[in-house]
Amino acid sequence: MKTIALLIGALALASTSASVDLSKVKRIEELDEFWAQLDPHLQMHRGTKMAPDSRIVNGEEAQPGQFPYQALVLSFFENGNSGLCGGTLLTQNFVMTAAHCVVIGSLATHGTVILGAHNRQIVEDTQQRIDFGTINAHPNYSASLLRNDIATIQLATPAVFNAVVQPIDLPAVSDDRTFAGLTGIISGFGRTSDETGSPASDVVMFTSNPILTNADCQSAWNAILIQAQNICLSGEGGRSVCNGDSGGPLAVRENDRSLQVGIASFVHSSGCASGFPAGFVRVSHYLTWIGENSDVVLRN
Ligand SMILES: *[C@@H]1O[C@H](CO)[C@@H](O)[C@H](O)[C@H]1NC(C)=O
Repeated sequence: MKTIALLIGALALASTSASVDLSKVKRIEELDEFWAQLDPHLQMHRGTKMAPDSRIVNGEEAQPGQFPYQALVLSFFENGNSGLCGGTLLTQNFVMTAAHCVVIGSLATHGTVILGAHNRQIVEDTQQRIDFGTINAHPNYSASLLRNDIATIQLATPAVFNAVVQPIDLPAVSDDRTFAGLTGIISGFGRTSDETGSPASDVVMFTSNPILTNADCQSAWNAILIQAQNICLSGEGGRSVCNGDSGGPLAVRENDRSLQVGIASFVHSSGCASGFPAGFVRVSHYLTWIGENSDVVLRN
């Protein structure tokens, strides 16, 4: 059976951004509530090495500032649980992430976005730690089937752009490419190994692989899970996203800029490094929604 593992992490602390204790951060996939909402055939992977949140596997450490659009998203829930995910900076006021990072039963009550981070365990001079304002999860997000797994978060105060904090470009509305065959770059603080209990990465990691056609991705998975709303990255070489990378970017390089084509959503339950394609939300499928739920100016 083809089953999925989600790329989230959970952290068990409730605090304000001024005192976020990253040493206590856990991946969202470690939360009971997170698993309870999944279909039974997905829940059976609970407690296996494929818990739903992980980081880049078989990648390498980024240079500080190499991914100025990379965000760390810490979400806090009413029962005291909190989760660690990735995200991307869209504008001074909005970050984009996966819906499963901010909805577990109910919407996160609050949270913190960290921009400009290389080592999340240190309060680096470059970091901007900003509280969540409004959270906008897609109204048709299905937590049990991982459909419409997209959300935007308004920042309580605007980010300040500089060399290590910059927004990412989104595809133009008229851009009808599937991006298949292009090199997709993934980045994040997710775990670096499938080993049980492996923690989230302290530093930003990245790797790359070819983007697949949806037909090829369906051959590996199936046509029920992989739909027009998804985009897949080859898992060759065991290079992939893993728990804690959820909500983070799949990007392509174009004219010396980065274009976000996907949002990390799920991997195969046999392991992040299993070689199976990873599933992402297809950004170009949701441009209208993103435009309506942020202040990003869409390009025609
Ligand atoms: C959610 O689903 C309903 C019913 O299919 C549809 O009418 C609506 O447009 C969808 N909302 C969004 C934002 O896609």
